[in-house]
Amino acid sequence: MIYGRPVLSTRAEPITNIDAAVAELAQDMVATMHEAPGIGLAAPQVDVSRRLITVDLSVGRDNRELIVLLNPEILEKEGESSAEEGCLSVPGIFEKVARPLRVSVRGVDLEGREKTYEAQDLLARVFCHEIDHLDGKLFLDHLSPLKRQLLKRRLRKEMGLSGGR
Ligand code: NI
Repeated sequence: MIYGRPVLSTRAEPITNIDAAVAELAQDMVATMHEAPGIGLAAPQVDVSRRLITVDLSVGRDNRELIVLLNPEILEKEGESSAEEGCLSVPGIFEKVARPLRVSVRGVDLEGREKTYEAQDLLARVFCHEIDHLDGKLFLDHLSPLKRQLLKRRLRKEMGLSGGR
């Protein structure tokens, strides 16, 4: 789950078959997200390099807000909004990140049905953040190179990681 793992900087594999392992992975991710607590999680954060995200702005309070999406992709984006972001894999760091104000996201649910979401504001931000994870990107990658270097150095130090870039 934590910064520094190669899986977090790797492009995750599409899911071609919704089998029991995928259902179990989704269940684990929802539990992990709620427990954290967080409003979004991507499979690479639990060490699984597959294209699956979970989102729940209600953090478990309202089942209707839970989204489990396989192979999500952003079809359209519009506008821009800047707000503070954090990540369960980048503990203790919160920075302003510019994201699209509105996105249209398409994926498949656990029953194999195609789903499209027209998201804005926080939901759009979470979709972008989690889909970034599937492409091996962290929110730190949206910051200026100088700031990113500084934060990465701090993270490595805090986590006792040595070397690296
Ligand atoms: Ni994250």
